[in-house]
Amino acid sequence: MNPLAQRPFGAAPVDVVLDVDTGVDDALALLFAVRHPGLRVRAVTCVAGNAGLEQVVRNTLTVLEHTGRTDIPVAAGADRPLIAAPRHAGHVHGGDGLADLELPPPTHTADDRHAVELLRDVLGSAPNPVTVIALAPLTNLALLLRTYPGVAGRIERIMVMGGSASAGNASPVAEFNTWHDPEAAAIVFGAGVPVTMYGLDVFYQVGVDQVTCGKLAAHEDPGVCLAGRLLCHQIRVGTGEPRVPAGSGLLGDAGAVCAVADPGGLVTEHLPVQVELAPGISRGQTVVDRRALPGEQEIHGTPVAVPRVDVAWQVDARRYRDLFLTTLLDGTA
Ligand code: RIB
Ligand code: CA
Repeated sequence: MNPLAQRPFGAAPVDVVLDVDTGVDDALALLFAVRHPGLRVRAVTCVAGNAGLEQVVRNTLTVLEHTGRTDIPVAAGADRPLIAAPRHAGHVHGGDGLADLELPPPTHTADDRHAVELLRDVLGSAPNPVTVIALAPLTNLALLLRTYPGVAGRIERIMVMGGSASAGNASPVAEFNTWHDPEAAAIVFGAGVPVTMYGLDVFYQVGVDQVTCGKLAAHEDPGVCLAGRLLCHQIRVGTGEPRVPAGSGLLGDAGAVCAVADPGGLVTEHLPVQVELAPGISRGQTVVDRRALPGEQEIHGTPVAVPRVDVAWQVDARRYRDLFLTTLLDGTA
């Protein structure tokens, strides 16, 4: 049962912050989040992942400028994982991280604070606990929770786009965000803050058909047009990925934001999850324990307290696709 689904209909907007490695699908997530009436985006923080930190910040500022939301503070965070070297994903997101659309550079600048300081300030000043939407390697959030452990009480929940209880993408078993910084993922999962794991088990299911992507790309609204162009890129790079609905543009990270805006579209199960930290082929894997009973490993081994998170198993893909499209188009000409 998805604990988020308890939110009463018509409730006040949810205060959120997004942590991103913009990235094509991070951009789609931002375009959706700033337009959804039930979400109040209080800050966006950037971390190296899909692209280098400087490019991620530039891309994030560009996207917010495209949708007229230069009022939202953007801060740069970690330029590398806690332990490993950064390993970017240009083959998926393009050389510039935004599908090489050659968008004009942003005219506004990032906040002077480091991402950790901006998060500490926003979480501390918000009237209610804030939902953190983590769409990137979890380096910034791990640094925040280790530097200012008291902010954990100011976090309603962390919606993590990351992990997988099935196959990986960065490696045979690890999803990119937890693969990029496994130690950070282990810190966040084990911090005692409620976490929803929006992993690859649902991530690949929410897409937009090619005809609709083309129509969005021709729209006169700059934000809608940009979303369409990014989705057309997603169609190109998604070809050959059997988990993506054939011929569709993957929402990716935007699906995790839909899950915050409309929790009823996600089915989750509260399960123990461990992040593999050992060097080797499974490093960065999120090991989800679906067993009802302990096995020989527990019987003969030393008991280990494993953090439980709400693992997303099913997503209403059509519901989130429609939510994305109606939100993006509401209020446009
Ligand atoms: O594995 C997919 C995730 O890694 C997405 O968040 C994508 O943007 C990349 O960060
Ligand atoms: Ca991302």
